[in-house]
Amino acid sequence: MFMDTLVKKITPESLALAKRLIEEEQLVAFPTETVYGLGALATSEIAIKRVYEVKGRPSDNPLIVHVHKDYDISKLVEVNENGYAKKIAKAFTPGPLTMVYKSKKRVASSLSCGLETLAIRVPQSKEAQEFLTFVNQPIAAPSANISKHISPVTAQHVYQDFNGAIPLILDGGRCQGGIESTVLDVTGEVPVILRKGLITAEMIKQVVGACEYAEETVTQKAKSPGMKYSHYTPNCSTALFERNEIEKGVALYEELEGKGKKAVFLVDEEIALLLGSRRILHLGATGEQMASNLYDLLHEGEKYDCIITFKLNLNSELMLSVNNRFSKAFFKAENKK
Ligand code: TXA
Ligand code: MG
Repeated sequence: MFMDTLVKKITPESLALAKRLIEEEQLVAFPTETVYGLGALATSEIAIKRVYEVKGRPSDNPLIVHVHKDYDISKLVEVNENGYAKKIAKAFTPGPLTMVYKSKKRVASSLSCGLETLAIRVPQSKEAQEFLTFVNQPIAAPSANISKHISPVTAQHVYQDFNGAIPLILDGGRCQGGIESTVLDVTGEVPVILRKGLITAEMIKQVVGACEYAEETVTQKAKSPGMKYSHYTPNCSTALFERNEIEKGVALYEELEGKGKKAVFLVDEEIALLLGSRRILHLGATGEQMASNLYDLLHEGEKYDCIITFKLNLNSELMLSVNNRFSKAFFKAENKK
């Protein structure tokens, strides 16, 4: 549709172009502190339809609405002034947290897929705030990747998936958080985490005393529809081993190299130390480092014939969030191939 997608650093000119495109119901990719979003005017059915088409996203998976920090969200959702949600919003937003409220149905109905709720996110990064403030409209934005592919953390990743399909990518460099926001349902008695992320249950408990994980409380149906789909799949072959199967991983690496194929290890620091001078993509040592590096390294790993990896040490709540994405990239890929 578009001959070539523009990739522009954030300047007054590129923001003006972004605003015009959004108002014309076109799509603009923009950086946040988690991953890049594929932005669309949340009140436009036409723009929302484009998002689902361009991504190849299942039509029953609702979108998050992004607003700037001074936007009055009570225009869009029911906010209980005295409830726990207010305290959570005060403590963690702007930030990598998406809150699911009861909707006032002021946005395009296809965006919320018939749900009575609406997910709102106030991102923290300077670039996201600049874009949202300049546009000054609620912006629906899923991660800016083709459905099921790895989420993008650089403008280049977005370009690889959407060159020719969208008119503009705002380039704000690499996203530092690295995994998508925590999705938190605040419509019930206690807050419930529907998607794990950088804000953990422990952090929320410290502010309001309680917080549950949906996996523990909801068994019948996935409350966050997106969680039932496979995600983050690299476009190359992958192999996942237990942490005590180093020899097996090394044997596969050597076998592939013997056949003239290029293999690469994607591992944390503890395992990297055991792999000698072989090709390694370093996830890092802490939960923060691994969250920040995971998608970037999955994209890097796709340049090889095979990514070889080992299960992660689940020694913190944040590592559970990282592992949520890691396991989708590797367990599913393993089953498929
Ligand atoms: O960090 C992020 O959240 C990024 C950046 C761009 O902000 N966005 C993002 O969007 O990850 P997406 O569409 O890839 O994931 C949104 C998740 C999906 O799992 C979706 O099912 C869930 O949020 N969701 C959206 N609206 C919901 C609602 N009303 N109730 C429950 N879950 C909802
Ligand atoms: Mg996504």
